[in-house]
Amino acid sequence: TKQYNNILTSKPETGVGLITLNRPKALNALSSPLMLELNEALAEFDADDSVGAIVLTGSERAFAAGADIKEMKDKEFSDVYKNRFLENWTAMTKIRKPVIAAVSGYALGGGCELALMCDIILASPTAVFGQPEINLGVIPGGGGTQRLALAIGKSRTMELVLTGRNFTAQEAEKWGVVSKVVGEGEGQVVKEAVEMGKLIASKGQIAVQAGKEAVNAAYELTLAEGLRFERRLFHGLFATKDQKEGMAAFAEKRKANFTHS
Ligand code: CAA
Repeated sequence: TKQYNNILTSKPETGVGLITLNRPKALNALSSPLMLELNEALAEFDADDSVGAIVLTGSERAFAAGADIKEMKDKEFSDVYKNRFLENWTAMTKIRKPVIAAVSGYALGGGCELALMCDIILASPTAVFGQPEINLGVIPGGGGTQRLALAIGKSRTMELVLTGRNFTAQEAEKWGVVSKVVGEGEGQVVKEAVEMGKLIASKGQIAVQAGKEAVNAAYELTLAEGLRFERRLFHGLFATKDQKEGMAAFAEKRKANFTHS
């Protein structure tokens, strides 16, 4: 894999691509160069047949403390409008393979929004989430108002966005923002995310990607359209070798050997 300046990439386990945000001095503030590299690394893993799931993490102290405030502070409307500031942040949502966020420490502003763009979030007990943009005289710009509202409802989202207060890993779990708060210990959240990625990567990748597409459709389509979309994807999977293999293996009482075809 390529060398980057603001992130690290590796393949710690069979089928898993790991991206580690790596601007420790700025608590992984999401500068434009970092986001370009992140998008490039995501695209690289998405195109790599040996990768079935991607894990995105930061450091123990910070997943990411938000967009880079020092980079933003002197910008004018004409700069941010003409240069489509933050528009390329949505590249993450076009990735076909599942992305698991492993969050320790601060996930604030754009950091919280980046985690919300991932498909599954695992959190350390130390994780701190929040949308503090109101304290900077702005509002979330990376999808926070929309994705939080979909995840936790209007009243809680309003409270968080309008007061800027942080919320804990435990609150995030209770509200369903994260799927699990892992046990204590340095590196534990990455370890569990990589294990989960390995498990997902062992399934048929076409079915995994179809499952991701179908769940995401629930956030964009009406129920009737979503059910139809799901059923058509389900029908389509009968054209794959993995469906033949998966169902034959069940009938023969053996483990399926998926070939992702
Ligand atoms: N942008 C740029 N630099 C940042 C940063 C950010 N978002 N967050 C932290 N840093 C830098 C600090 O400026 C500091 O740099 P120096 O050592 O050069 O001074 C370094 O990281 C360490 O930070 P602190 O000294 O502040 O560490 P702390 O432990 O005292 O506080 C913190 C940690 C509470 C996370 C605090 O850094 C903080 O409040 N950060 C900003 C959080 C924030 O407002 N995020 C939202 C950004 S706006 C946004 O994201 C818009 C959007 O929707 C896309």
